[in-house]
Amino acid sequence: MVIAIDGPAGAGKSTVAKKVAKLLGMFYLDTGAMYRAFTHYVIAKKADLDNKSEIKKLLEGFELSISQDNVRANGKDITKEIRWENVTTNVSYISSIDFVRNKMVELQREIGKNKDIVVEGRDIGTVVFPDTRYKFYLDADVVERAKRRLKDKKNEEKKVSMLAMKEKIQKRDQYDSTRDNSPLKQANDAVLIDSTHMTIDEVCKYIINKVKG
Ligand code: DC
Repeated sequence: MVIAIDGPAGAGKSTVAKKVAKLLGMFYLDTGAMYRAFTHYVIAKKADLDNKSEIKKLLEGFELSISQDNVRANGKDITKEIRWENVTTNVSYISSIDFVRNKMVELQREIGKNKDIVVEGRDIGTVVFPDTRYKFYLDADVVERAKRRLKDKKNEEKKVSMLAMKEKIQKRDQYDSTRDNSPLKQANDAVLIDSTHMTIDEVCKYIINKVKG
């Protein structure tokens, strides 16, 4: 069983997906963390981001291990590092590269093979698990999303102003939704949830009710 939760940055996908997974006894998979992990790896290796063959080589030597709480790249725990500003700035670009997406999608399907999972991302309902019956597209007003990001104490971007955060989110959404390969978009058969005026618990309850049908 796969519950797919897609949507733009800051819509609350992580918090909701984590909680729904816990309540239903399912595995939580954060696919954004996978793209972030590789982006961090590429930056740490000081690769030239414009050189696709260099990035491809790095991908060949990249070993990802992801649990519900930790992300490891080639054995190194980088759970905190993947939230750093330099990763957030470059992850949209790195995740738009075809061969990067192909590898991550393959890994995501592999993880979903033997487990019941709640998966959050941008292309889960459209590309990664298009056949699942449970698809949600979680959205919220951009000002509300920027507010939520600023509130997140773990977020390095805390010092950023409200306006700057809003612009950063809009820029990333624009990039993610206009790329050629599996852009961010609501699947035709996904249930749209506008969480602007909803609490986390309300969103979780709504999803669980839909799933239990
Ligand atoms: O959810 P997040 O902010 O951690 O995701 C980071 C980036 O990864 C996001 O800007 C786009 C990319 N991403 C993607 O292309 N496909 C996914 N399924 C998940 C994330």
